[in-house]
Amino acid sequence: MKFDVLTLFPTIFQSLDESIIGKAKERGLIEINLVNIRDFSKDKHKKVDDTPYGGGAGMVMKPDVVYDAYLSVKDKNAKVIYLTPQGKVLKQDKVKELAKNEHLILLCGHYEGIDQRVLDEIVDEEISIGDYVLTGGEIPAMVLIDSVSRYVEGVLNEESIKEESFSDNLLEYPQYTRPEEFRGKKVPEVLISGHHENIEKWRKEQSLQITKIKRPDLLK
Ligand code: ADE
Repeated sequence: MKFDVLTLFPTIFQSLDESIIGKAKERGLIEINLVNIRDFSKDKHKKVDDTPYGGGAGMVMKPDVVYDAYLSVKDKNAKVIYLTPQGKVLKQDKVKELAKNEHLILLCGHYEGIDQRVLDEIVDEEISIGDYVLTGGEIPAMVLIDSVSRYVEGVLNEESIKEESFSDNLLEYPQYTRPEEFRGKKVPEVLISGHHENIEKWRKEQSLQITKIKRPDLLK
């Protein structure tokens, strides 16, 4: 799966070189191509933004510069996603759906936003990662890349995907590892019983219980 990221701050994405996503990149399961929007400025000062028509605070990213950055990666089979608090809030079902694409182009805004005309021209879908405002779309783009990449074949083992939180709309059961006793607290007996049926039953009950307490909205 390929991600092209249009951003003014490509170095923010360095953390994707670590851990599971880093390994997936190394193994060629996913490709993350960072495109610096500033490289497409025709201005001798490499200007990428300007003051808003009509006045007001902050700066607006210029449509021509963003458009040229887009043209450098354009692919009629790719979906273009703009990360914005105005978008549809990202949920696990959406993550799974996005993972079916071969190529996503992620557009990250900064400052007061991007000229509406280029958004109207190139964006297929707007996505938000939650009802709060960040300084730019870079962290949301990383959230999207991380969550979607987990569904790319080979990135995780199949079992982790089946058993994770939100599968069947339930949260995950609690996990334990050695030592068997920690600060006076023992690992639940059933987990050391070796009785697989009972373990599975206990885990299902725990998932249901935890979801009822922490996220009752998921059960509706
Ligand atoms: N840009 C700024 N805040 C955002 C959010 N919550 N989701 C997506 N993009 C954003």
